[in-house]
Amino acid sequence: MIYTAKFWPGANAAVFGLGGIGLNVIQGARMMGADKIIGVDINPAKQAMARTFRMTHFINPNEIGADKVVQAITDLTGGGADFSFDRTGNVMVTRQALECCHRGRG
Ligand SMILES: NC(=O)c1ccc[n+]([C@@H]2O[C@H](COP(=O)([O-])OP(=O)(O)OC[C@H]3O[C@@H](n4cnc5c(N)ncnc54)[C@H](O)[C@@H]3O)[C@@H](O)[C@H]2O)c1
Repeated sequence: MIYTAKFWPGANAAVFGLGGIGLNVIQGARMMGADKIIGVDINPAKQAMARTFRMTHFINPNEIGADKVVQAITDLTGGGADFSFDRTGNVMVTRQALECCHRGRG
């Protein structure tokens, strides 16, 4: 998060997959002074734990539709996330993680 992603204070992050690895990403984003940390998971039971790690927003693709996830993140961040992290192990999610990033700086 600090050395490889070069995350900056105030940046917005989208984190796909709220398992052990995703929770570590949330923790790192919070340590770096993130503004919005948007968690995405198909399992609603993952939301509570992620909020204790200071996730600020939660999106469940099964509730809003997988094809609406990118737009939801774009709307929440006013143009796209500065950083997105795919921690699901699902190749289809990798595409969403790319597409939800801010054009130009994400
Ligand atoms: N845990 C490790 O030590 C470790 C080490 C190296 C690599 N990895 C890899 O990192 C990835 C994440 O590891 P983990 O241990 O956190 O796994 P995990 O299974 O605990 O968490 C994955 C999360 O992704 C969610 N998910 C699955 N499909 C999704 C989708 N389409 N959209 C949104 N969310 C979805 C699941 O509900 C789950 O909460 C895996 O691919 C794993 O192989 C893990």
